[in-house]
Amino acid sequence: MRIYDIIKRKRDGLNLSPDEIDYFVKEYTHGSIPDYQISSLLMAIFLKEMNDEETLFLTKAMVESGETVDLSSIKGLKVDKHSTGGVGDSVTLILGPMIAACGVPFVKMSGRGLGHTGGTLDKLESIEGFQTDISKEEFINNANEIGISICSQTANITPADKKLYALRDVTATVENISLIASSIMSKKLAINSDGIILDVKVGNGAFMKNLDEAKHLAKTMVNIGNNYGRNTMAIVTNMDQPLGNAIGNNLEVKEAINTLKGNGPDDLFELCIILGSKLLVLAKKVKTEKEGRDLLKEVINSGKAYNKFLELVKYQHGDIREIENPNLFPKAKYIIAVKSNKKGFIKEINAEKIGKCALSLGAGRETLESKLDLSVGIMLNKKIDDEVELGEDLAYIHTNDKQKGELVKNKILEIYKIGEKNKQKQTLVFYEI
Ligand code: URA
Repeated sequence: MRIYDIIKRKRDGLNLSPDEIDYFVKEYTHGSIPDYQISSLLMAIFLKEMNDEETLFLTKAMVESGETVDLSSIKGLKVDKHSTGGVGDSVTLILGPMIAACGVPFVKMSGRGLGHTGGTLDKLESIEGFQTDISKEEFINNANEIGISICSQTANITPADKKLYALRDVTATVENISLIASSIMSKKLAINSDGIILDVKVGNGAFMKNLDEAKHLAKTMVNIGNNYGRNTMAIVTNMDQPLGNAIGNNLEVKEAINTLKGNGPDDLFELCIILGSKLLVLAKKVKTEKEGRDLLKEVINSGKAYNKFLELVKYQHGDIREIENPNLFPKAKYIIAVKSNKKGFIKEINAEKIGKCALSLGAGRETLESKLDLSVGIMLNKKIDDEVELGEDLAYIHTNDKQKGELVKNKILEIYKIGEKNKQKQTLVFYEI
């Protein structure tokens, strides 16, 4: 088999066979095919696309390029969750403990934030001492003892995806449904949970900017998961404004603690309930989503979900005093209020732009090597459809650099669009599969 012929076939719009896909993934991972040939193949895939079967084989080849994690020694049906990335998305920190408190093991290997979107690992590591880099044994042991484990991806999982993703990033070949779906799903399938829920974000703060593309991605990923024998569901949710009110690492942890105590923002809590009720059905804990909702509300009201979060922090070596008393989290030196220069209703808060503001304060990473400032970020005081008076606070900037904070203040004033009340209320969930 020759890589030249594989490139030519895809260039000419032909389908690649499972053997051809297996060959280029394996040989590229081992370093026997150079970047320039795979760049060319990726561009051919980008332009001529892959069908469902090719996408499935690409995913399989990527899973098999590295180690897989066998979770069969964890008792019960285990569930996992993935979000395609958004702004203010602290769902995992809330959903995981809620699900575990319902008696269903929640196991997840998470990623770090890049660009304007945040990452669960960074948020968890803003808790003093919290370790995400735990061994496979500890990961499994914790899931068996307390029903929840969240760790960083081990270096040996899907090495093909690591190489291909880095190459896609510099060759303008990221935004292709087959390549995105196989990249995300290979990492999910490399650990063998029984049920997976996918939260595909759509909107200005998300990878997918339009609903049709987001639905296509959701369907493709569900198809891969189910074909692999994993019970997989997806929902497409709104990322036209940040989720919840907090954007920034320890600010989001504090918001997650409030939500676990029943005092979180409505959109964030509702999304956790929707995703959670589906996971409970996937894990056969309940028969209907309605039953799932009731159970999830019960573990919030009884404090069981909050206590589960405390256990998670304790088992992963974090300082639970910060959770019990969030005032102990490091605070930014300055909190700058952004005051409205208009009266009216909030019509728009572009999530990507807000995410970029938080990034410029140090809450996010420009490159994989960037160092984060875990205490900085933005707290929104007004969300879309809220009424605002002249001079009322729209948001608060938490910053260690006053000058940067002032710049961000001016940007936030531009990002908030204020005017007549929107005719339609914001939709949280656009599509379910
Ligand atoms: N996230 C991934 O892991 N892979 C992609 O291709 C896109 C987003």
